[in-house]
Amino acid sequence: MCGIVGYLGGESVTPKLLEGLRRLEYRGYDSAGLATLEDGVIARRRTEGKLENLITRLRSEPLGGVAGIGHTRWATHGRPSEENAHPHAPAGATPEVAVVHNGIIENYKELRTELAAAGTKFSSETDTEVIVFLVQRELQRGATPLEAVQQTLTRLEGAFALAFLFAADENLLIAARRGSPLAVGVDTESASIGSDVLALASMTQKIAYLEEGDLAILRRGEFVCYGANGESVTRELKSVSQSNVQIGKGEYRHFMRKEIFEQPTAVGETLHSFLDPARLVATFPDLPTNAKDLRRMLSVACGTAFYAAATARYWIEAMTGIVSDVEIASELRYRKAALDDCGLALCVSQSGETMDTLEASRLLAQRGIPRVAIVNNADSTLARESDLSLLTRAGPEIGVASTKAFTTQLTLLACLALTLAEKRQTLETETLRRYAESLMELPSRLFEALELDKKIAQLAHDIAEAQHALYLGRGTLFPIALEGALKLKEISYIHAEGYAGGEMKHGPLALVDEEMPVVVLAPSGGLFAKIASNAEEVLARGGRMLLISDAEGLAAFGGKATWTLELPKVPELTQPILYALPMQLLAYHAALVRGTDVDQPRNLAKSVTVE
Ligand code: M6R
Repeated sequence: MCGIVGYLGGESVTPKLLEGLRRLEYRGYDSAGLATLEDGVIARRRTEGKLENLITRLRSEPLGGVAGIGHTRWATHGRPSEENAHPHAPAGATPEVAVVHNGIIENYKELRTELAAAGTKFSSETDTEVIVFLVQRELQRGATPLEAVQQTLTRLEGAFALAFLFAADENLLIAARRGSPLAVGVDTESASIGSDVLALASMTQKIAYLEEGDLAILRRGEFVCYGANGESVTRELKSVSQSNVQIGKGEYRHFMRKEIFEQPTAVGETLHSFLDPARLVATFPDLPTNAKDLRRMLSVACGTAFYAAATARYWIEAMTGIVSDVEIASELRYRKAALDDCGLALCVSQSGETMDTLEASRLLAQRGIPRVAIVNNADSTLARESDLSLLTRAGPEIGVASTKAFTTQLTLLACLALTLAEKRQTLETETLRRYAESLMELPSRLFEALELDKKIAQLAHDIAEAQHALYLGRGTLFPIALEGALKLKEISYIHAEGYAGGEMKHGPLALVDEEMPVVVLAPSGGLFAKIASNAEEVLARGGRMLLISDAEGLAAFGGKATWTLELPKVPELTQPILYALPMQLLAYHAALVRGTDVDQPRNLAKSVTVE
């Protein structure tokens, strides 16, 4: 997590760095800071809290210069505070070096002890500060900035991305990548560094992604790179594809709201990538395995992406007969998994930079399992490291709570299930066409679901009063219940849990009383009678219920629920995608009522690039 930027060029550096940080704030927002170099002097401004606080400080205490580095933090070592905010530099009037860091230095305690024994006085609780003192020590021993960084890197263990600024050279930035993503930009008169392409797009037209172990030396119009073994390497500079990406909120009050309302379009675009609307067949590039021979596959992911994979499991097994396991990426990494008969892995991640998913993917590669990445960022590390990458067409998702990334992942996974079924001939052609048709209708149904916004805003007042909430679903609606509960807790801070409806009587029913709102996802069709029985069990214990169904389901339940929401009736395949929307709107409106920070909920960050 954490976002880092760096810039040097002919223009004043502070506005450049601030714009880059604004685009990176989704990575962390506990504190922010800048260091710039003016007339050979490194000066810093750092503030606790959001970037806005730093901008306010800079109005009264501006920073000049044409070279600098910046940081927006998601705390790992040391609480959010000004002292712990980056950039770090040795205390004193004229520091020789400043650094910004994303990641974790695992051996920082030993390094701190070593440096303290030699008289170093630390002024923060961070793991990062050791880096700056190690570099300074090398500089004082007569090393050049490059030698000082190279020597320091040999002492560091862990995963990190770093950017350095040196007082002695205003035409120099050094960047290093080991485990955490980093890209650089080079134009004729400038050079820049950024945690992602979105940040760099505000500073440059040409970017290159650093590879694992790279060390980059950047000067105006110049970029030299050394690979993991210290040899000089070439990293291709590409035109920035997202330079025109709009990341504003437009007419919307929050990014999350904008992204919820973008779903009909985002799902439509994803469908157009993977379904041929004329022939009504799924259109995928060749998979890195023979679908006909597949007996078992595995999906790995975290958080919301995990729930997308968990939903797809129902589709894949029902349509293709392939055993489809699903595992939380951080769990797969540390157990002795029996994977011998696994013929394909799906690694699902919006960012494509989630450390746990990346490491799980690398483990699967070591085990010789072909990997397909399902990502929303075509240039992400996961996409580049996989055998095949499939792109959801959600566009940039800025709100920390995943919304359109989730529904586009589901859409892509539904199409993938269709293509596997077609290749394996496990479904009749007519059934496949019917499924494809129901997917093509989905954008319109999503539009209709968004019309529930006002009603959900009203009933959210009641839900927002609760301390706890339960979400129930069955079949493909069970992972949607889990996702609904995650949405509510992450942005409104109401404790919520999702359960398979059938599990209630095995324990959670004890929680139900007249205070407890229970959200029940109950589309008519296949499992309606089963989930309706579970709903009755809740009502019999005095629970307050929000029943979400279609007209047929609501009529069958007969007005017994406390609140109801009516969605259009859709085929079973697309139910989980449609039912995700009211979950998102409910969490959004409950958060508004409670006055929490919708786009940047406390303690969270969008892209989790640490373990
Ligand atoms: O970028 P990823 O999809 O790999 O992120 C995984 C999770 O961190 C993410 O889905 C998270 O759970 C959501 N932002 C929550 O809304």
